[in-house]
Amino acid sequence: MKFFVDTADLKDIKDLAETGLLDGVTTNPSLVAKSGHTNFIELVREIASIVPGPVSAEVAALDYETMLAEGKYLAKIAKNIAVKVPLTPAGLKVCKQLSGQGTMVNVTLCFSAAQAILAAKAGATFVSPFVGRLDDVGQRGMQLIEDICTIYNHYPNFKTEVLVASVRNPMHVVTAAKLGAHVATIPPNVIRQLFNHPLTDKGVTQFVADWAKTGQKIPTA
Ligand code: E4P
Repeated sequence: MKFFVDTADLKDIKDLAETGLLDGVTTNPSLVAKSGHTNFIELVREIASIVPGPVSAEVAALDYETMLAEGKYLAKIAKNIAVKVPLTPAGLKVCKQLSGQGTMVNVTLCFSAAQAILAAKAGATFVSPFVGRLDDVGQRGMQLIEDICTIYNHYPNFKTEVLVASVRNPMHVVTAAKLGAHVATIPPNVIRQLFNHPLTDKGVTQFVADWAKTGQKIPTA
């Protein structure tokens, strides 16, 4: 399973990239606004230089012509840019065009299996179903992931990867992995939570204490 970090915060991206566990980055207009960066193009350029994997940068327009022009501009920033478009009729038309020209496209704001089928038919590289937002309104976000993975598995010609988005906790990540989703895009704090278990901490403390009792050291040179 690929782990993308879901943020536009450069410090978090740099910090997590150093773990060697990061396969990409997703941003969206809200995350960019939250980052406080005032030059989106330069921000995307820097993120794409930090993480070699796919970096999603979202268009702002809603009409086909402008969305397409924005998408082409974003794609030229770096070879690892994935242009992000909303799952709307215009967005899917743009997806079809850009993916046909070899550009990675991440179709976002997916909330139904029907939408996910359209994204695959439009040649999306990634489709981003928002599990947390579905949970927030009392629907089962992970059921959507199961439905999409089941449908996609029937059609080998569908090349679209399921990129689980709107992740709120480690169990979203684990369940997505059990369902066979290709990618999870995870907020920095949730990635850090994945490492933690109290029994690991307890075990490390005990090993350190017991090793100290031996009075020995492991040579480092
Ligand atoms: C992907 O980048 C999505 O835009 C993001 O995961 C949405 O998360 P949210 O529902 O917490 O805003």
